[in-house]
Amino acid sequence: MSSPTAFCACTATEHTAKAAPTTVIQLPQAATDRAAERRQIWAGLSAAQPEIDSRYFYDAHGSQLYEAITQTRAYYPTRTEAGILRALANDLPQRVRFSQIVELGSGSSAKTRILFDALQRQNQAVHYWPIDVSHRMLEATATALAHQYDTLSVTGLAGDYAGALKAWARHPKAQHGGPALFMFLGGTIGNFDATSKSAFIDMLHGHMRPGDAMLVGFDRAPHASKPVWRIEQAYNDEAGLTAAFNLNCLTHLNRILDSDFDNDGWQHQAFYNTDANQIEMHLLSRRQQTVHSPYFETAPLTFAQGTTIRTEISRKFHPAPFTAPFTEAGFKHLATFEDTRQYFGVLMLLKKP
Ligand code: AVJ
Repeated sequence: MSSPTAFCACTATEHTAKAAPTTVIQLPQAATDRAAERRQIWAGLSAAQPEIDSRYFYDAHGSQLYEAITQTRAYYPTRTEAGILRALANDLPQRVRFSQIVELGSGSSAKTRILFDALQRQNQAVHYWPIDVSHRMLEATATALAHQYDTLSVTGLAGDYAGALKAWARHPKAQHGGPALFMFLGGTIGNFDATSKSAFIDMLHGHMRPGDAMLVGFDRAPHASKPVWRIEQAYNDEAGLTAAFNLNCLTHLNRILDSDFDNDGWQHQAFYNTDANQIEMHLLSRRQQTVHSPYFETAPLTFAQGTTIRTEISRKFHPAPFTAPFTEAGFKHLATFEDTRQYFGVLMLLKKP
């Protein structure tokens, strides 16, 4: 059921929902991109501190595991942010003007539904552009949403943030669609180190149009009423979902690299790095082991017992230093919303008209 779309040579799947048609556009990944991607993975794995980019958590299975994590008691960010959005939802249309919503890393769009519910009550129609690396997750979400909300039409963009935003900016429906509200929730911006975060903010600002607004969620650094152990617990849930999520990236890499990572050889590790103000997730090598792939540029990779591969940084922020890079990039800071315990924050920004 795929057909080429007008604006680029990518495949799109169309569903005719009850109310509005839903489209998921799979952004093309050129063979050269795939080769560059494999080289990048190899470079990460062979570094002094081996690492895997955290985007590799999110194949179809990993996306499901993450959804399960967000429902555990230990993982406070999701429900805290949901509470903030619930308090904000009803007067959001009064605060910022928008007729499109572009969401980066939409997943199941669970929290965005809080806004859709409010928009539905106010009878405000919007076009929704969820962006996610998992095509399967997007399909399911887009179809469900279009059935549930008759005020909503949906175009999913399956790909990485940069590619998807470029595709959005070129899409006729986006160009003629009126002001957009961008959303980057969950604290996922904490996955970027300082350098890639600034580059990301500039890239976003570049694709947005004057008058477009943005909501960005961030997880708060520890403070008097938010102890470090609460944060560490969120990444070490009792059911072992986070451990499974962490290990799943090896399964995902095995598919991309045709490699032979053995999940039993690795152990989940997550701790708070107080100096860097970030959770770090690692995979700890249980024994000396060797991993092969036809795409590794030199010999197979050997990991000594006790060495680790870092799979994620999840940075935690104080509000002022979190906001500064956005205003430096040219955004106007409209408001910061938070929960009463100050566990989480949501920034509201405007690209200056
Ligand atoms: C989806 C990036 C917000 O950093 O807390 C959850 C991912 N990692 N448990 C986070 C995650 C481990 C999550 N984000």
